[in-house]
Amino acid sequence: MITSNQIREKYLNFFEKKGSVIIPPAPLVLENDPTTLFTSSGMQPLVPYLMGEKHPMGKRLVDYQPSIRTVDIDEVGDNRHLTYFEMLGNWSLGDYFKKEQLSWIWEFLTKELELPKEKLYVSFFEGSLEVPEDTESFNIWKSLGLSDDHIFSYGVDKNWWSRSGTPNQMPEGEIGGPDSEIFFEFDSIKHDKKFGEKCHPNCDCGRFLEIGNSVFIQYRKKADGSLEELPQKNVDFGGGLERISAALNNNPDVFKTDIFNKTINKLEEITNSTYEKNIKNFRIIADHLRASEALTKNGVVPSNKQQGYILRRLIRKIATKLNNFELLTKNKVILEELVKFKSTLEKGLKEVEKIEKINGKLAFDLYQTYGFPIELTIELFEEKGQKVDMKEFKKEFEKHKEMSRSTSVGMFKGGLADHNEETTKLHTATHVLHASLREILGNGVTQKGSHITSERLRFDFSYPEKLTDEELEKVEELMNKQINSSLPISFSEMSLNEAKSLGALHFFDGKYGEKVKVYSIGDFSREVCGGPHVGNTNELGRAKIIKQEKVGSGVVRIYLKLAQNGH
Ligand code: SER
Repeated sequence: MITSNQIREKYLNFFEKKGSVIIPPAPLVLENDPTTLFTSSGMQPLVPYLMGEKHPMGKRLVDYQPSIRTVDIDEVGDNRHLTYFEMLGNWSLGDYFKKEQLSWIWEFLTKELELPKEKLYVSFFEGSLEVPEDTESFNIWKSLGLSDDHIFSYGVDKNWWSRSGTPNQMPEGEIGGPDSEIFFEFDSIKHDKKFGEKCHPNCDCGRFLEIGNSVFIQYRKKADGSLEELPQKNVDFGGGLERISAALNNNPDVFKTDIFNKTINKLEEITNSTYEKNIKNFRIIADHLRASEALTKNGVVPSNKQQGYILRRLIRKIATKLNNFELLTKNKVILEELVKFKSTLEKGLKEVEKIEKINGKLAFDLYQTYGFPIELTIELFEEKGQKVDMKEFKKEFEKHKEMSRSTSVGMFKGGLADHNEETTKLHTATHVLHASLREILGNGVTQKGSHITSERLRFDFSYPEKLTDEELEKVEELMNKQINSSLPISFSEMSLNEAKSLGALHFFDGKYGEKVKVYSIGDFSREVCGGPHVGNTNELGRAKIIKQEKVGSGVVRIYLKLAQNGH
């Protein structure tokens, strides 16, 4: 039986043979994307390149991307939904297109993985008012030998992909396009007519499972609401590793794959019961544990805000479903949170004693303040012969959701981005200054330190003397020349070794194989750096060196400001 690790390896190798470069996965929490809590698909870190920026590793990329989708959090418990999953992804950035993509993915699934052809079904875009029917994909599938009864077409709700949904839902600037999905059919599941008269790949009865999606990202939403063609035609493929494993197992339950085996076995052992008897709870626990462990590995700690809040919710949910949770994991962060939760729970129980008559608002307070799941409150009060008013509870819940949504939107829109605007600009200016100094004074110049306030940048570098007035002028001139050339700024992630071989400047010696981010400013500068940076040098205005001094032997310090153009 082929393992999930083997599937991943086969996939990467297959696309590498097709000329793709394997890129490292992005972290689960993207540093430079304040619009979203988690990386939720492989394309997310690649958006600038899908929009036309040059990717340092080329036009054909492949990777596996750990992802978290919190919208699916309440669906967990069935046989297919997960909060944390791994996405196999390949991309063409304006290079190969539909013909290569569909035949390659077909070759991978049927030849490399040897999935039976008769169990695979595909779909293509039926067209909309703005975008024509994708007859090209239909013809490609036909030429690959699929019969008509294995090819289906759907509209924007099923065969269109963008991060925000259908074309109507896409905000200005969002990219997306028609897609072509691949489904696996499980004979063991008989169609249930409550989902419709006839079964088909997008039917919800569970007979079909989507295992991969090739998106043809070629459109961008314009301000007037229409779609325009992107300068390049891209492919964005994503396939769930867990689902592909399930297909190979010929069992629709993703929790029956080797990915979850160990956890499920352990759960059976510590509860002295079976998976079948606890199916929903075991699935929730297994999924949430995997997600929590991944989050803690990405540096997230439980808290009441943002990513930390999601992690806290996941851990607490497990704790309420499993008494001896501490036997399931050795993860220190999770175990610490468990201790905290137990003490809150105790305090909460004392509060419960005081409540004479439960109502929806009180039930919500217990949930909100003490992390009491509603099921637990219902159970507590059932003993007293009282019922929780669920309508009222839900009303409170919605009110709170609305409130936290508007606070987080507020934060993303104003706070984070605007507050840092000046320092972000100066951060980019640091890279431009550094590269300019090296070009004028030679490559002996290396950064020794820097300090940024919202007013100015201070930059220390190795150089034996203070600069002459002429040299200072030249540095300033070169900086402004680059700024006025409107150079785009982009980053990509790679191992430190790859970064070194690309000639990127770096000031620390990380561990071998460590993943780093490399920022490029056009072709002028390339540095290992965590970001964030502005998108284009033309946002910087004008660079002005205001002071220089010698600090210690062999180190010169420069102070620099950014002025608005024309000042
Ligand atoms: N972006 C698409 C998805 O997330 C394909 O990678 O499904």
